[in-house]
Amino acid sequence: MADIKDRILKTLHEVTGLEEVDIESPENEAFGDYSTNSALVLAKEKEESPRKLAEEILSKLQKNKDLSEIIEKIEIAGPGFINFWLKKDILINTLKQIDIAKSDFGKSNIGKGKTVIVDYSSPNIAKPFGIGHLRSTIIGQALYNLYKALGYEVVGDNHLGDWGTQFGKLIYMIETEKPADLSIETLEKLYVEFHKMAEKDPDLEEKARECFKKLEQGDPEAKKIWQKCVDVSIAEFDRIYETLGIKTDFAFGESYYESEMKQMLNDSDIKKYVIKGDEGALVIDLSKEGIKTPLMFLKSDGATTYATRDLATIKFRVRKWDPSVMVYEVGAEQSLYFQQIFAAAKLLGLVKDSVKLAHTAHGLYLAPDGKKFSTRKGKTIKLEDVLSEAIERAEKLGNNKGTAKDVGIGAIKYFDLMHSVTSNVVFDWEKMMNLEGNSGPYLQYTVARCNSVLAKANFKGLSLEADYSNLDSEETSILRTLIKFPETVEKAAESFAPNLICNYIYDLASKYNGFYNKDKIIGGENEDFRLALTFGVGQVLKNGLKLLGITSPERM
Ligand code: ARG
Repeated sequence: MADIKDRILKTLHEVTGLEEVDIESPENEAFGDYSTNSALVLAKEKEESPRKLAEEILSKLQKNKDLSEIIEKIEIAGPGFINFWLKKDILINTLKQIDIAKSDFGKSNIGKGKTVIVDYSSPNIAKPFGIGHLRSTIIGQALYNLYKALGYEVVGDNHLGDWGTQFGKLIYMIETEKPADLSIETLEKLYVEFHKMAEKDPDLEEKARECFKKLEQGDPEAKKIWQKCVDVSIAEFDRIYETLGIKTDFAFGESYYESEMKQMLNDSDIKKYVIKGDEGALVIDLSKEGIKTPLMFLKSDGATTYATRDLATIKFRVRKWDPSVMVYEVGAEQSLYFQQIFAAAKLLGLVKDSVKLAHTAHGLYLAPDGKKFSTRKGKTIKLEDVLSEAIERAEKLGNNKGTAKDVGIGAIKYFDLMHSVTSNVVFDWEKMMNLEGNSGPYLQYTVARCNSVLAKANFKGLSLEADYSNLDSEETSILRTLIKFPETVEKAAESFAPNLICNYIYDLASKYNGFYNKDKIIGGENEDFRLALTFGVGQVLKNGLKLLGITSPERM
């Protein structure tokens, strides 16, 4: 669907002979619909004048038949940029394409035959689902949706933290303290208490290690306690996923890879990379891969680590799905860890070099004062409370209960996604719920506005009678934006950047609202065209929000 852009790229490629050509959408519409710096790139290669080369390229482009079908004019600007303006009928044709494709507008099949694994959400068992895992859940789901829309086979895997030495500590505490209930609060308390006690009595660490060892060796009593911890946690996580409207395909969790790990530990091809590190642990030396810190593979007592489990996971995923991309939606604090894992996976031959391994490295949520958000007076902020507050605030905007859920949750998701993945997010209720600014509610409200205009006009579909000859600058600008939705979806997926979708739909909504305030739609001149435009905007906004995992209420 991004075929217009592709056609320009293809021609540029032929004309310039450059291996890589790039075209951009200028922010300022005065520079056309697309712009390329190809002449500048070529000039550097050939050490010639960019302006002269631009003129040569221009004259070839102007003679190109394929291009002449879609391009109105081409001009040179500045030191040698070449700017393209699309033909009006190409712009108008977008409305017809939206009408045909409807909720499929923006989708394509460029990913056909390829598999992407998105590793996301991944909260830890026996700990509350904190605000810390919210970003991974929201961004991960958006990436999942984006790749799916491009025709990729997508596997969403929730890599639950359900294995590791922390369970040794919990098992020790549960066996000795025998708590009456095993709620997440109790488990959290026991864990904190363990650390307090262990400060005074270092022997406890050893006892906890033994407990984890028992668990890894399959001791039934230890397993039973572990299973209980898993069950209470999953019940709580599921409640949150239900509220958020999140569904992962799989939630194997770290524990799933027990046997895979055992095999890996006995594999002589892998063993040859494992060496004794400091204090008796087994590590993988990555210095030849440019990473100074060795990867901790096995603890000195033989217990497996987070890394052992991640490497086993990669092995399993490659065998099961043969992915071409594996993306880990995990916070920036694990950046070094993922560099190590990716380097080790390639070194050990667990994945082919052609497989793209990506860590999104998202930023943190910060409290409104810019400080760390995760604790308040030593107490963890409960995600469920944040979600309930969002829904309550949406009700206060005048929504009924059902709509308030869509609006409140939409506001949370949009606020997260509008930030670039790697930046921190300063939590701000006012911005999040602002009906007049860049927010989920504003976008949902614009969709509802389009719906209501169409309902009032009894819109039945695109009219052939619409007059496309005299468009004002607002109308043209909206058309020029609409045509770029499919390529924006591609770019957002490719660069793991759902915020590009946010930027796009916000821009589109602002343009539409500007037009709405200036031009009379129903009963105005050219009503048919203006309704068609309203329909196109509403549909594309809905499609964009859906990719972000946000529902658009019919009315607001
Ligand atoms: N449970 C981990 C944590 O909370 C995140 C897991 C991310 N995924 C992975 N394959 N390591 O830190």
